[in-house]
Amino acid sequence: MTDEEVRAVAPGRVVLIGDHTDYVGGLVLPMAIDLSTEVRGRRTGGHVELSSAQLDGVARFEVPVTDPTSVTPGWARYVAGVAAVIGARTGLVGTVDSSVPPGGGLSSSAALELAVALALGAPEDDPVELARRCRSAEETATGVPCGIMDQLCCAAGVEGHALLIDCSTETHRTVPVPEELEVWVVDSGQPRQLSESPYAERRREAEAAAALLGHLPDVPLEAIEELPDDRLRRRARHVRTECDRVERLAAALDRGDLDEVGALLSASHRSLRDDAEVSTPVLDALVADVEARPGVLGARLTGAGFGGSVVVLARSGARLDDVGAGARRVRPSAGARTS
Ligand code: GLA
Repeated sequence: MTDEEVRAVAPGRVVLIGDHTDYVGGLVLPMAIDLSTEVRGRRTGGHVELSSAQLDGVARFEVPVTDPTSVTPGWARYVAGVAAVIGARTGLVGTVDSSVPPGGGLSSSAALELAVALALGAPEDDPVELARRCRSAEETATGVPCGIMDQLCCAAGVEGHALLIDCSTETHRTVPVPEELEVWVVDSGQPRQLSESPYAERRREAEAAAALLGHLPDVPLEAIEELPDDRLRRRARHVRTECDRVERLAAALDRGDLDEVGALLSASHRSLRDDAEVSTPVLDALVADVEARPGVLGARLTGAGFGGSVVVLARSGARLDDVGAGARRVRPSAGARTS
């Protein structure tokens, strides 16, 4: 197929609840948002050449790509990783334009991967397969052993809804986000690169706990509390209790009942801080600041942590504009698509 004009768009995501659970087959409740990445261009020839409206340098390499990890600049490795995993043989000349802030914990990399995959001709009708390939591209590009959540949410998002994903089966269902519930993302001003964070170490620890105890979302808390190793016990407890909170928040949203939201988000942040140990003093202070404001139901760090953003759930009319390094209201949006 040659000389075909393409336009593909993929959203970023915010995790309402359910972090550091996906890589051990836990439950997550992310939501695709109205910040997105667009790839526009012409499918032609034997090389990819994409420039970015926000990032420096040009992603330029031949297809089929042989060594995506040698491609520069850094952002181009995601593009090359995707071209490699989908086995692209036709090139693409065009541009990338994104409103998803890089390093903000809103899955700018998943949005880029999905938009590039669709623009390069990956099939659009199977979001799970698309997500698996883009997850693998991310690992190829960065060496970070991330889970399936970000790519699956950005692939399968549905307007007006969050997605409840069971990462052990990679199955998902939509959960309505009530009209009267506002979702805000507050930038902590603390950027982070997953590859330079202890993310992989946290995953190894959770996996070590699972090797001793079994599938963590199902292990009784009493069995977890008996684990002699303090660090592994806390990692396991985080996964187990976070999965319970995901189920409870999904059920509350299904019922349109906002009463429980605050307690669930606060407990999630505490667990991410104390048991998963992925928070920072800046994120903790931001959550405390936001939670004290009128109209706010609850707040927690969102995504991998170690910096990035805080997600806030609020009743209509909460005033958050002056918080952190910038706050914005986000709306539940559709997943990746071509047009
Ligand atoms: C990153 C990873 C995800 C997930 C989150 C933490 O966003 O890409 O797979 O592990 O961190 O929940």
